[in-house]
Amino acid sequence: MMKALCYLGQNKGIRWQSVPKPKIKLPTDVVGKILATTICGTDLHIVKGHVPECTECAESQPERGLILGHEGIIEIEETGSKVSKFKKGDICIVSCISPCGECYYCKKNIQAHCRETDTHCGWILGHTIDGTQAEYVRVPFADHGLYKVPKGISYDALIMLSDILPTAYEVGVLNGKVKEGDTVAIVGLGPVGLSALISTKSMNPAKIIAIDMDDSRLEVAKRMGADEIINPSKTDAKEKVHELTASEFKNSGVDVAMECVGIPQTFEMCEDLIGPGGHISNVGVHGSAVQLKLQELWGKNVTMSTGLVSAYSTAELLQKIVDGKIHPESLATHHFKLDEFEKAYEVFSDPGKSKAIKVVLTSE
Ligand SMILES: NC(=O)c1ccc[n+]([C@@H]2O[C@H](COP(=O)([O-])OP(=O)(O)OC[C@H]3O[C@@H](n4cnc5c(N)ncnc54)[C@H](O)[C@@H]3O)[C@@H](O)[C@H]2O)c1
Ligand SMILES: [Zn+2]
Ligand SMILES: [Zn+2]
Repeated sequence: MMKALCYLGQNKGIRWQSVPKPKIKLPTDVVGKILATTICGTDLHIVKGHVPECTECAESQPERGLILGHEGIIEIEETGSKVSKFKKGDICIVSCISPCGECYYCKKNIQAHCRETDTHCGWILGHTIDGTQAEYVRVPFADHGLYKVPKGISYDALIMLSDILPTAYEVGVLNGKVKEGDTVAIVGLGPVGLSALISTKSMNPAKIIAIDMDDSRLEVAKRMGADEIINPSKTDAKEKVHELTASEFKNSGVDVAMECVGIPQTFEMCEDLIGPGGHISNVGVHGSAVQLKLQELWGKNVTMSTGLVSAYSTAELLQKIVDGKIHPESLATHHFKLDEFEKAYEVFSDPGKSKAIKVVLTSE
């Protein structure tokens, strides 16, 4: 047996409880001991009942529920017979995406649509199978979803590679075509927006403008290297951004506007901030339609991208950490032991009060 954080179903909440320890099921699996893990905003949505497939999975096993979590660092205990890249004792980052590595989409590097995952979205851990918020985890397709940890890097930095850094880098920075010398606006400075800030910074932009309604998030953004901060509840963000970006050589507006909130208001703000030839890079998950101001955008040669994380950039980001180009450990604001999981959820779900960005839970 082991202890794990289980989501019990609609309005039934979560519980740290005893469940059977996972075993190898398929030859491509590994089973690992969790050394560090964390909580994602998506886990909070699951607990609120907003992700129906998780609720269905949890309720199909009453009292036992579904173990949450899709981020973690493990020490491998056992490998399936077809795992070729890893062995017992290896310490690895677990990716939020568990791609098969073989299907049409995996070969096109859009593992977010892997056909072999039952949800066809690459994300299965803590979604439709038990996840990483536990003492042990079974990781499917281990050869494609694990990354060996180099010595001397903190778990606080490495854990950000499971999800938020690849999300922000792939969907925000790479899809957004951020280049050296660009002026970039980031709207929303939660864990994802701050990860976008960290990875944008590594591209040597001319200026980063951080926009959020929460002054304490703006202060964090400033500490992490934002050149300008704007709180749109106090300042007209459109006016301010155009004022900050006006020059005698070019029209005003940013080169890249990254939407990291997921509501129409902030997407539409990005449309107002963008300059000629700019790119709107949408990272937020949207639940409703937005107003596309095509009548303004087409004539400004504005391009646009959306995306779902594939985690194909994990190795590249790991190298940036090793080279000292990015320092994502600054996102880890709170630390707990695994058996304090329920308290960690309370802290993470109330960032207004706790000022939490990422909470890190460790086994020791
Ligand atoms: N595309 C993907 O693959 C992917 C993956 C993970 C998360 N996401 C999405 O990224 C988004 C950000 O995630 P997060 O965990 O950082 O979220 P979060 O809720 O923790 O942070 C959102 C931030 O936006 C700010 N905000 C809210 N309303 C605002 C407004 N009107 N103007 C300016 N700022 C405002 C909040 O103060 C907060 O700091 C979410 O929509 C999430 O679902 C996308
Ligand atoms: Zn996540
Ligand atoms: Zn695949």
